[in-house]
Amino acid sequence: MTDHRRKKAGAAGENGTSSLQPKPVVTDEEPQFINLRPKSLAEYIGQPEVVETLSIAIEAARQRKEPLDHILFHAPPGLGKTTLAHIIAQEMGVNITVTSGPALEKGGDLLGILTHLEDGDILFIDEIHRLPRVVEEFLYPAMEDFAVDFIFDKGVHARSHRYRLARFVLIGATTRAGLLSAPLRERFGIFRDLDFYSEDELVRIAKRSASLLNIQINTDGAYEIARRSRGTPRIVNRLLKRVRDFAQVRGDGTIRKKTVQEALELEGVDEKGLTMLDRKFLKAIIDFYRGGPAGIEAIAATLQEESDTLVDVVEPYLLKVGFLTRTSAGRKVTEKAYRHFGLPVQQGLFKKPKP
Ligand code: ADE
Repeated sequence: MTDHRRKKAGAAGENGTSSLQPKPVVTDEEPQFINLRPKSLAEYIGQPEVVETLSIAIEAARQRKEPLDHILFHAPPGLGKTTLAHIIAQEMGVNITVTSGPALEKGGDLLGILTHLEDGDILFIDEIHRLPRVVEEFLYPAMEDFAVDFIFDKGVHARSHRYRLARFVLIGATTRAGLLSAPLRERFGIFRDLDFYSEDELVRIAKRSASLLNIQINTDGAYEIARRSRGTPRIVNRLLKRVRDFAQVRGDGTIRKKTVQEALELEGVDEKGLTMLDRKFLKAIIDFYRGGPAGIEAIAATLQEESDTLVDVVEPYLLKVGFLTRTSAGRKVTEKAYRHFGLPVQQGLFKKPKP
């Protein structure tokens, strides 16, 4: 089964008479989920440089009545890649079709989508680094020349036919830019990394979401959620809903610092936002590999987890907060992480090797 979703977006602001005109909004996602997502760049909190790049590109494309360049977003999960793709569609007033690398198994899967796109439409491919090679090769002429080549027959009878496509915009999202082939990477005109969000930005997101969900939250409560959200808006929104339940059943409905602390202790989320899996990961390196270095496959085998999950979901934040380092010999737990766990730092473990 493949999973491709198409929806129409409404435009913000004025538009000309091209096919990039305002279109009615038809949402196809759970109302609560979509409601928390910002729908315009003006509403978007954080990533100021990315927002500025996009608003300039959108404004310029709209003035010229041309489609945007192809865009590639790289970031760990939950930092806003999909949200930005929907916002871009909304701001340009074009359709967006959503699919993912693993959902496109054959060239024909991609062709079916490409031939239904109209001028300016957006094709969003999540996890684009997992696109099969045959599909990726189909994408090159589609991105560059807005055409696909069909080959009929074989050997001396082989003939090719070029099929023209509409001038669509590809937005790719990846958690692993390094796994993208150079020819694919080079075909994107705009390539942006999304960073973890600052505490202040997460507080603003928590307050915005609380207001949309009609939740009472004070500033200390919002800060406590922000501190435990691993720099990630998606986690803010998830924790907010868990803490709301707790405040409703065990408290007076208002989210305060203490409500957050009690609710998230139950969820296994500690004061730095580390989850059970983060702690298991660090403890495995400490207990089985004397703090490291340890190879990712060995750690994955010890934990019986997929190494992709560890690399994509667990490691980025641990690296960011300095609990983990990656060396050519493998992963190492830092002194800071030992202190976080209240463990004695082993003698000599963190000393620099003698020259
Ligand atoms: N909800 C999730 N991410 C957000 C963001 N970056 N800005 C505003 N609200 C959000």
